[in-house]
Formats: sequence, structure tokens, C-alpha cells
Amino acid sequence: MKSKKVLVVGGGGRCHAIVDSLSRSPQVEKIYCAPGNAGIAQQAECVRIGVEDVEALVEFSTKNAIDLTVVGPEASLAVGIVDRFTEKGLRIFGPTRAAAQIESSKEFAKRLMAKYHIPTAAYEAFDDFESAWAYVKARPLPAVIKYDGLAAGKGVVVAESYEDAENALRDMLLDESFGKGRVVVEDFLAGPEFSFMCVVSGEKVYPLAMAQDHKRAYEGDKGPNTGGMGAYSPVPFVTPEVEEFALERIMRPTAKAMVAEGVPFVGVLYGGLILTEEGPKVIEFNARFGDPETEVVLPRLMSDIYELFDAAIEGRECATEWSEEALLGVVLASEGYPAGYKKGVRLEGLESVEGTIYHMGTAEREGAVVTSGGRVLMVVGRGKTLGEAREKALADIAKISCEGLFYRSDIGHKVLD
Ligand code: AMP
Ligand code: GLY
Repeated sequence: MKSKKVLVVGGGGRCHAIVDSLSRSPQVEKIYCAPGNAGIAQQAECVRIGVEDVEALVEFSTKNAIDLTVVGPEASLAVGIVDRFTEKGLRIFGPTRAAAQIESSKEFAKRLMAKYHIPTAAYEAFDDFESAWAYVKARPLPAVIKYDGLAAGKGVVVAESYEDAENALRDMLLDESFGKGRVVVEDFLAGPEFSFMCVVSGEKVYPLAMAQDHKRAYEGDKGPNTGGMGAYSPVPFVTPEVEEFALERIMRPTAKAMVAEGVPFVGVLYGGLILTEEGPKVIEFNARFGDPETEVVLPRLMSDIYELFDAAIEGRECATEWSEEALLGVVLASEGYPAGYKKGVRLEGLESVEGTIYHMGTAEREGAVVTSGGRVLMVVGRGKTLGEAREKALADIAKISCEGLFYRSDIGHKVLD
């Protein structure tokens, strides 16, 4: 019976995909989204509350008798939204601030993995420039240098030369603009990357379908790192054996480790994994749904997502069903992204698209949809194969007026081209 009221916190493509998935639930009657965007507004009632305004969100949930709140962005987790909702007796899907450290503190994640023998690159942590530089200088290249703290994917430098490594260490440890400096230096791992998101409830782990993101801005994996320029699911090189290893040797032990450490995790544990010659290893963990991976994973979920969220909160078993279809999504981003870009550019042709569009950074202005972020839209194609899905996504993009936008036409190239 449709009776549940849900609040989704966030306003990007990931939240649009969560809202879209919730709209297919046989239990969900009403969806609110704070703050949402122009696309989400077609499927949910958007509420003008910011993702970090926890007190206003608590008040909204209480007043509107929300049955379940689902958290999208890490920023909300970092300000303790889950702790506060729980204190107030409100039901929320996401990790506590302490559990979200698995994303917000690289060193916390690295220590946990070392202690519980979860495969990852060897590392050292530093807070002073001299010792970090001495360590890096004595090791082979490339050097992987990570700023320890929430940096939204911007705090990682894979330095191919000692000069680049030294500059990165200077930026992170001597320049105050990054904030109080601390870095993790780790061994370089080689292999294709993939994203393995699991819904986790204490020691229980419910795996979601595999996806691969494309972090670099331009075709051929060139240019600066971004939040992600496209994604696809399933991932052909993640064989059942690789998946089994990733689940049994990485995701389950990590969930157990969090319980053992006194910070049980409830929410989406995102494993950013790399398939090395020695098997999958962890590049990073995130404490939330990935963006843009969610936009190609959740549409493949055939079972009820509300049930999955609810089961995780209650610690119940929950079986999931997945479609065999292939999905591939291409991000349309504002020219200049990930650096500065223009906002307020009118988008046209959206209604002629045949596949699915998830809005990442859009707003409504005088009845028109305009750009309001770096990543603007994710156009998702689906088909029997990833090749077919990509053709459809690109054909749909051709129908959208893209002035001031750019995209990568090679999403999926690691398995398609
Ligand atoms: P992260 O923010 O930790 O996901 O890192 C961003 C990107 O840097 C990853 O997606 C990888 O492409 C790359 N990277 C991070 N750590 C390593 C590593 N140890 N070896 C190779 N590449 C890495
Ligand atoms: N797509 C990578 C992330 O969500 O962090």
C-alpha cells in the first residue's frame, strides 16, 4: 500500500536517481527533496532547505511526519545529520558522523584497512613537509599524495615527476588554503577501477550492481579530475570471481571492522576499487551513493528501494533483484568545469530525449530550465549491450542544445573501444 512519506536530502544527479527509484516503490506515497533541482521537481516536491541545515531538516521531517529520510551528499553526513535525526527519534538512512569518517578521513580508512587486512596500497601519513618530502624522494614514481580531509575528489595528486610531487606536498602541507595540513602518501596501484556500492547495516551487506566512473574531464582520460563525467553498469571485467573477492574480502570485512571499532555503519558504503594483478584493492571508501554511478545503478534495481532502505535501518534481511540491461550515462558539464564556469544558460530540447535524463545542476527560471552547476545533466541510455546504451545516450545528447556545455563521447572506452 502506498502510504510512506520520504525526504531525500540533496540536489544532484544522484538524488534525482534516488527520487526516481523511490517513485517506483509500491510503498511510497509522497517524496520531498531538499533542495532538489529542476528535474527532481518533476517527480518530487522540492523544499528550499540547504543540505547542511540540519535543524531545518529536522523540523521539516517532524512537521510533515516523514517516515524515512535518505541522505545524498557527504556534506550532510559531515555535519552530523544522521546523529541529530536519530537523537530526535527520526528515521534516516545514512551513516553517523563517526562512521562517515571512512570517507572524510583518509587516515582513518587506511588504519582500518591495515588493522583488518583489507587489501589496499601501503601508505604513510605525514603532517610536516620535510618528512613527507624525504619519504617521497626515496620512493619510486608515480607518487600518490592524498590530502587528508573532505576534498570532494580534489585532494589527490598522482605525481609522475618528483617536481610535481614536491609541489603537491608544498600545496597541501605549507599552503594554508587547503586548511590544516595532513597527507597520506601511498603506493601507486595499476589496473582498471570500478565502483562497488553496498547497502550496509552493521555487519549485513547488500551488494548493489557494479559501475565504472570516468573521473577525468576530457576524452581519452585526459585533463583534470572531476566529480565524474560518465558511468556505466554492469562492468564486464568484474567477473563473478572478482565480485566474490570484492564482497567477501573487502566489503564484508570492512562492515565487520566498523562494528568491531564501535562505529557501525548504516548506509551506502562505496568501495572505489582497482583490479590489480593481485586482485581487487581499495583506492578509497565513500560513505554515500556515488555520483554519477548511482544514475546507472539504481535504474537497474527491479526490487523496492524503500524496502532496502527500511531493511538496512531495521537490520532485516533484504533480497534485491537486478535487470540484465546495460546502462551508460554521459555527463553534460558547463564549459570550464571543474574550474570556473557560467551559470544560468538555458537548456533546450530536453523534452525530445527518449532515454532518461538525471538533472545534476539545473534550476528553473521563468519557466525555463537553466544550468546552475558544473555538472549539469546526466543522459542515460539503456540497451542489451553497453555499446547500444552508449549509442542511445549520444543520440539523445544530439537533441539537446549544448551551447556552453561539453561532454565525453568515449564513456565506456575501457570496455567498448
Ligand atoms: P580518490 O579520491 O582517492 O578516489 O583518488 C582519485 C583518483 O586518483 C582515483 O580514482 C585513482 O584514479 C587515483 N588514485 C588514487 N589512489 C591511487 C593509487 N594508490 N594508485 C593509483 N591511482 C590512484
Ligand atoms: N563518482 C565518485 C564519487 O561519487 O565520489
